[in-house]
Amino acid sequence: MTALDTAPLSPALGIEVSGVDLSRPPGGETAPELRSLWLEHGVMLFRDQFLDDPRLVDAARLFGEPVKPNSVTEPEDGRDPHVLLVSNIRENGEPIGVLPDGELQFHSDSAFLEEPLMATMLHGDQIPSRGGETLFASAAKAYETLTDDRKERLRGLKAVNAYDYYTQVKTAAYDRTTGPFAVHPVVRTHPETGRKAIYVNRLMTEEIVGQTAEESATILNDLFERLEDPGLRYTHVWRPGDVLIWDNRSVQHARNDFPAEETRLLRRVGLKGDRPY
Ligand SMILES: [Fe+2]
Repeated sequence: MTALDTAPLSPALGIEVSGVDLSRPPGGETAPELRSLWLEHGVMLFRDQFLDDPRLVDAARLFGEPVKPNSVTEPEDGRDPHVLLVSNIRENGEPIGVLPDGELQFHSDSAFLEEPLMATMLHGDQIPSRGGETLFASAAKAYETLTDDRKERLRGLKAVNAYDYYTQVKTAAYDRTTGPFAVHPVVRTHPETGRKAIYVNRLMTEEIVGQTAEESATILNDLFERLEDPGLRYTHVWRPGDVLIWDNRSVQHARNDFPAEETRLLRRVGLKGDRPY
């Protein structure tokens, strides 16, 4: 075993790894060790990386298979098609990336697809002077805090997850005749660790299948509140050169508001996932 230099990011989840240069992806035992630590902690941080697109995609390959984004924007000429810009920068009045402004509610990436992203890697490029932090919640620990009785009542329940690619704070139901939606278990089992995690989220989950609207809302709001318990959280304050990767199967994330007049630019690579069960 090589000795990786690591430190926890919070008591609830996340681990920082120092001394690894992702521009030269590690071989030998280090790559599987990194992946195994990442599975255990849900979020992994590498500081001071400053990767270009091809190297960012190569770094993502340490954890899984990069996929081209299901995106509303086409990459500019010459950009790697696996890399999606997350930015409030506008050219000719149009955002150059996705999710441009302000707050973003807790979610698990692409939960509205039949096969949601397994993981997401983000690289920090331009960071506002305040705000814009990414909040991570352990959906596995949130599940583990439930009583046995509540766990039993959630067993077998499925929920509808929908999205329109534009909403950042949900105020109304999505139009399922035009936007993508998928039915997934309310509690999913991690295919690699076997750990269970809550898999409904405030941004995308519409309703629990087979329940009255009132029953569904009661169960969902209880689960959302558990997921948003500050004790289950890691708040990431971005710096340029940060590379973060999180496991969408066990972790949810959200974003704090930030000043509209400041520039925020990050690059994202999504990794292929399977159908949740
Ligand atoms: Fe996201």
